[in-house]
Amino acid sequence: MGPRARTLHLLLLLLHALTKPGELIENSDFHLAGDYLLGGLFSLHANVKSISHLSYLQVPRCNEFELKVLGYNLMQAMRFAVEEINNCSSLLPGVLLGYEMVDVCYLSNNIHPGLYFLAQEDDFFPILKDYSSYMPHVVAVIGPDNSESAITVSNILSHFLMPQITYSAISDKLRDKRRFPAMLRTVPSATHHVEAMVQLMGLFRWNWIVVLVSNDEYGRENGQLLTQRLITTGEICIAFQEVIPVPEPSQVLGPEDQIQVNNILEKLRWTTARVVVVFSPELALNIFFQEVLRWNITDLVWIASESWSIDPVLHNLKDLRHTGTFLGITIQKVSIPGFSKFRVRYTKPERPMSNKTNPRATCNQDCDACLNTTEFYNDALILSGERVVYGVYSAVYAVAHALHRFLQCNQVRCTKETVYPWKLLREIRNVSFTLLGNRLFFDDHGDMPMLLDVIQWRWDDGQNPFESVASYSPTHKRLTYINNVSWHTPNNMIPVSMCSKSCQPGQRKKPVGLHPCCFECMDCPPGTYLNLSTDEFNCLPCPGSMWSHKNNMACFKRRLSFLEWNEVPTIVVTILAALGFFSTLAILLVFWRHFQTPMVRSAGGAMCFLMLVPLLLAFVMVPVYVGPPTVLTCLCRQAFFTVCFSICLSCIAVRSFQIVCVFKMARRLPRAYGFWVRYHGPYVFVASITAIKVALVASNMLTTTINPIGRTDPEDPNIMILSCHPNYRNGLLFNTSMDLLLSVMGFSFAYMGKELPTNYNEAKFITLSMTFSFTSSISLCTFMSVHDGVLVTIMDLLVTVLNFLAISLGYFGPKCYMILFYPERNTPAYFNSMIQGYTMRKN
Ligand SMILES: *[C@@H]1O[C@H](CO)[C@@H](O)[C@H](O)[C@H]1NC(C)=O
Ligand SMILES: *[C@@H]1O[C@H](CO)[C@@H](O)[C@H](O)[C@H]1NC(C)=O
Ligand SMILES: *[C@@H]1O[C@H](CO)[C@@H](O)[C@H](O)[C@H]1NC(C)=O
Ligand SMILES: *[C@@H]1O[C@H](CO)[C@@H](O)[C@H](O)[C@H]1NC(C)=O
Ligand SMILES: *[C@@H]1O[C@H](CO)[C@@H](O)[C@H](O)[C@H]1NC(C)=O
Ligand SMILES: *[C@@H]1O[C@H](CO)[C@@H](O)[C@H](O)[C@H]1NC(C)=O
Ligand SMILES: *[C@@H]1O[C@H](CO)[C@@H](O)[C@H](O)[C@H]1NC(C)=O
Repeated sequence: MGPRARTLHLLLLLLHALTKPGELIENSDFHLAGDYLLGGLFSLHANVKSISHLSYLQVPRCNEFELKVLGYNLMQAMRFAVEEINNCSSLLPGVLLGYEMVDVCYLSNNIHPGLYFLAQEDDFFPILKDYSSYMPHVVAVIGPDNSESAITVSNILSHFLMPQITYSAISDKLRDKRRFPAMLRTVPSATHHVEAMVQLMGLFRWNWIVVLVSNDEYGRENGQLLTQRLITTGEICIAFQEVIPVPEPSQVLGPEDQIQVNNILEKLRWTTARVVVVFSPELALNIFFQEVLRWNITDLVWIASESWSIDPVLHNLKDLRHTGTFLGITIQKVSIPGFSKFRVRYTKPERPMSNKTNPRATCNQDCDACLNTTEFYNDALILSGERVVYGVYSAVYAVAHALHRFLQCNQVRCTKETVYPWKLLREIRNVSFTLLGNRLFFDDHGDMPMLLDVIQWRWDDGQNPFESVASYSPTHKRLTYINNVSWHTPNNMIPVSMCSKSCQPGQRKKPVGLHPCCFECMDCPPGTYLNLSTDEFNCLPCPGSMWSHKNNMACFKRRLSFLEWNEVPTIVVTILAALGFFSTLAILLVFWRHFQTPMVRSAGGAMCFLMLVPLLLAFVMVPVYVGPPTVLTCLCRQAFFTVCFSICLSCIAVRSFQIVCVFKMARRLPRAYGFWVRYHGPYVFVASITAIKVALVASNMLTTTINPIGRTDPEDPNIMILSCHPNYRNGLLFNTSMDLLLSVMGFSFAYMGKELPTNYNEAKFITLSMTFSFTSSISLCTFMSVHDGVLVTIMDLLVTVLNFLAISLGYFGPKCYMILFYPERNTPAYFNSMIQGYTMRKN
């Protein structure tokens, strides 16, 4: 036997010693005889501090304590439900349901009624090993109202698996069916109440709140639940949390409590938070709100927990309307026809109140003032409709339906067998029925799926004092706004309760202090953006190809910059290229026509076409510089032109070599000359130079990438410059050095033959063209090192075109001119005379 069970047995013995069995109870409000009795536990009086007598053995006298108006209302609901069931012919036909109700006075009188219900009719309670065939006084217990006493009562009743259905105990602990196997309830658990509150705050964008909790189990537990819920999302912050002292039964505050209340009110007056959540039993609040009124505190939004949200006594403090708006969480409203009349129905005592004293001497089935007080509040109660009352009502119906099934009732009669509470419990847990339009059943945790309402307190005459403004469904965990709140503010503005005003779009939050709700707003600089869905506190840099302006929420693609057709430089260069192309074509045709003439042969003969064709191709390929660069156009830009250029240069070099050195070679190195002629030396030379050039260009490309890359324009970050690979400059130098070598060769041969007749001498042209080529290459490199962007592409293109033009017009132009305009000089005779003249001069 565990220590708890041992205590229980001691208490049972004590109870037996205290009660004298066999005498009748007179007050018919609390008692109704029947075939099966239900136990009812209600708080008609309340002593929140639960002071019991310490020096003598007596069950607490509830009527010493303050009256709890709603308690009697709930008790009447149970009486009404039982009477309705007894009247009803289809539910439990022929069975008379009775009840036995006790005032638990909140926390003060919890054990005694539990024992009373467990005892037999004659108040005798046997100590047994096995209670499975033991028949206690009642078959099920409805109540009590608050979690703390529900748990106390359950600790006794659950030993006997006595079904217990509470109508307003919300603690999450009661969901644990291993601890509370016989506990059921017709109210959603505290988690849902807190969730509804949090969603309510979200609805009005309040994120800076004050939490006040009573100095008892109820306040602490629910306050902690709310704090934890707020921490998980971090969207709503608690400015401060304070404990409201619970007054003595005499409703006065001790000096320390007074200081405590003053501290709270002082803080409330100065805080920027305008929303105050209060978790407290209503009895502790009467004094508190009188203090609030005395302090002239206004403009707050009070959010009431279910314990006081529909309390008519607090609502009756009419001056409260000046302190702000009152919202509250409570159970859904279901109107029960006929109940308002029944609530204040005066029941005549069955017998005139006699001189006989109540045998149990507990006074806890006794409330003389209840009916009168309820009558006083009846108008408000009628207007506000049934909420928790419906919880009691449905609890009684749940037992009745279970009993109906258990007794295997048909339309007219039931088998009146013995009902063992532990067997009835199984039936109650499985019950499912429709009551006033609501489908009711208990879920796995023993909770009934009741909706929650958010109500607003109103004080207008003839209006529901607790009007619904929103509805919360525990199954969907969603709050639905159904009615406008009328705010106690100028112009009915929604009160603002935020630590910091929300930032402008695109501004990041800079935390101030510890609360995530308190921050400064900072601009996000250009090039960064704010992604609200991931991070409100940091501006993220845009990816490389994108950019953003100040305070942008996203980056945009930078404008791509490249050479376009409709730009002036493009048009100029294109005209130049076209000019080059057509003149080269003309030269080609002229040379073709006069192929056999000495002028053409002295210019290189067939080799001229080896130069002219690449030149033509080069002019045709100029458009690869225009438009966005691709792998192919980059390849062309960086390889094709320079290879063409090299072919031309090598042709010129080999032609100079032939003119100047071939005779000497023939004379001094006849074998080498033989090879040179037999193996088409000039072409082998040009081919090898081209091969070397191609190899150079290819290796240069392999070491870097050909893919065009984008770089930000340093002057305008909105623009992205697309260009071929970045160390283009190194490639250019590399190529140029090869060309330098070739032209030095060409130049030295030409220099050696400087005394040759003018029509053989190209020294001047080669010098000029090479000087131009180098200066342009070097200035291009210099330009590229200081400049970036489209201008570089233009310069590159211009230099390329001009170089080719120089070769085309500079080398072939004069020859062409001579062919066309001085045909007399283009004869073998003229050439012979020139050579003779030269030989004579030389000799
Ligand atoms: C039950 O029936 C009696 C007699 O018909 C009636 O007076 C009483 O109002 C009914 N009670 C309820 C709750 O319907
Ligand atoms: C509240 O207001 C009344 C009247 O305006 C004033 O007499 C009283 O001193 C005020 N109380 C406090 C605590 O400020
Ligand atoms: C009340 O007490 C008197 C005398 O003590 C007794 O004669 C009378 O029967 C009692 N009344 C009832 C209703 O028991
Ligand atoms: C209830 O009110 C009636 C009349 O208003 C009065 O006669 C009676 O004494 C009151 N009862 C109590 C217990 O206050
Ligand atoms: C619960 O009720 C359903 C039908 O309403 C029935 O099929 C089932 O057997 C019952 N379970 C128990 C444990 O009574
Ligand atoms: C709430 O107020 C708005 C504007 O004031 C109005 O359009 C709307 O109909 C109201 N809703 C309800 C349910 O009263
Ligand atoms: C913000 O972050 C989310 C989640 O990482 C992502 O899905 C979304 O695309 C981001 N938005 C922007 C504008 O980058």
